[in-house]
Amino acid sequence: MKNNPLPRLDQCHETRDRLLPLCRLRPGAIWVDPVRGHRVGCVDAVNREAVLSLCEGVCPSLALHDPPYNLVAFDSRSIDEYISWCKQWIAVSADVLAKDASLYVWLGADQTDGFQPLPDFMIMMRSMPFRPRSFITLRNQRGYGTQQNWMAIRQELLYYTRGRPVFDVEAEYTAIPKVLRGYYKTVGGRRTENSQRSRSDTIRAGNVWIDIQQVFYRLHENVSGCYAQKPLAAIERIVSASTNPQAAVIDLFAHSGTTLLACERLGRVCVTSDIDPVFCEIAIRRLERFRSTGQPGWQNGNPFEREIRTNLPKQSTPSRKPGRSEELTLFEVK
Ligand SMILES: C[S@@+](CC[C@H](N)C(=O)[O-])C[C@H]1O[C@@H](n2cnc3c(N)ncnc32)[C@H](O)[C@@H]1O
Repeated sequence: MKNNPLPRLDQCHETRDRLLPLCRLRPGAIWVDPVRGHRVGCVDAVNREAVLSLCEGVCPSLALHDPPYNLVAFDSRSIDEYISWCKQWIAVSADVLAKDASLYVWLGADQTDGFQPLPDFMIMMRSMPFRPRSFITLRNQRGYGTQQNWMAIRQELLYYTRGRPVFDVEAEYTAIPKVLRGYYKTVGGRRTENSQRSRSDTIRAGNVWIDIQQVFYRLHENVSGCYAQKPLAAIERIVSASTNPQAAVIDLFAHSGTTLLACERLGRVCVTSDIDPVFCEIAIRRLERFRSTGQPGWQNGNPFEREIRTNLPKQSTPSRKPGRSEELTLFEVK
């Protein structure tokens, strides 16, 4: 098995610089998928004109955004600055979305800093043309803060609508959460445990999701180099519940291209952007890899493995650990 991961690209600038020349998009450029018409733009989410041209001729009925969270570990700014930045891309989304539309936003709450920016964002949204619908929590399996605090294992997801968008309740029935092991039920005269029964027609996902595996390096959907990848199952749940087949979906923060891949798999069209050409390239390559191999990511590999090999130690967890450039050597593939 290959073991050829990239380090976190937000922390290993040397690697990022080596990857840049391999990217097909420059800032401002748009890639149009020749097969199904998806679009990937190297576009700043708050550049209204650029997002309008990205969406030209397409009218998304779902926006599914996962912005940087303003946490100290990442690129933190003042709360006011951050919220006014959010307000801009929400306004841009309102401009490009259909009259009847859904808007989902993943956001964090920094427990070391007044739980910002989640409550500030919620308050800001009261002035925007969307109605709050649900406050979803995705439970992570791994967390932080175990010694002096409750382990932080939650990811927050806000759901808003405008007009009367589709909500397919059928798409929302879920596998029985594994945490409920021990709940017995007699099926066909046989006593069964939860884990022996699969998807249920009677258990709805609700707004606390405990049945979705967080992405880590052993999963096939893992994209090494990415540091903030969302589980494909969560994105597919949202796309299935909140769009009709063939609908268009917009995601202004593509990163590993999870929304793009979910749309491909579910027969929707995705319009997505990232400000960073490297993540635009990764998103496009993830789609192309899925089409050629059926794989949703690079478990034990990386999106640039055709051109570059790395010598990171085996069993490292590139999507979670800091990528220190001194640990890494890149080899060109001849
Ligand atoms: C949290 S990640 C998104 C993760 C994504 N949902 C996934 O599953 O891979 C945020 C992404 O937003 C991008 N980004 C940051 N600022 C941006 C901006 N102003 N416009 C567009 N993209 C931006 C970053 O480069 C990063 O790739």
